[in-house]
Amino acid sequence: MKNLMIATAATVALMASVTTAQADGQKTFQAACFACHGTGAAGAPKVGDKAAWGPRIAKGIATLEKHALHGFKGDKGVMPAKGGRADLSDADVKAAVAYMVSQAK
Ligand code: HEC
Repeated sequence: MKNLMIATAATVALMASVTTAQADGQKTFQAACFACHGTGAAGAPKVGDKAAWGPRIAKGIATLEKHALHGFKGDKGVMPAKGGRADLSDADVKAAVAYMVSQAK
């Protein structure tokens, strides 16, 4: 019984941290990525556009994170490093990538 309670507490803590990461990713997305990824401006894959994100997600999250952090030039346009927001932490940018990926599933 005691073990069960510990397991339950750990699950609740884990769920809380996952929720926070998603909220932060969404916040960063809205502040730093929405200008292009919210509208499809400059050739950016629009958030929630499964057709646009599918082949990108297939490259793997590590590749997407690398391209978001360091910049990427593809067939559609140029993704500036950190969306042009050098003040963002790597963790913020990765959370924003995770948010966009989660919206395309
Ligand atoms: C100035 C416009 C602009 C902003 C701001 C911007 N992006 Fe992008 N992003 C692009 C464009 C354009 C592409 C598509 C490049 C291509 O495939 O030709 C892209 C592609 C991407 C990709 C896919 C890379 C790949 O390998 O397919 C990711 C992930 C990404 N952006 C994340 C982000 C995140 C996270 C932010 C905010 C921190 C952000 N972008 C802000 C323009 C932008």
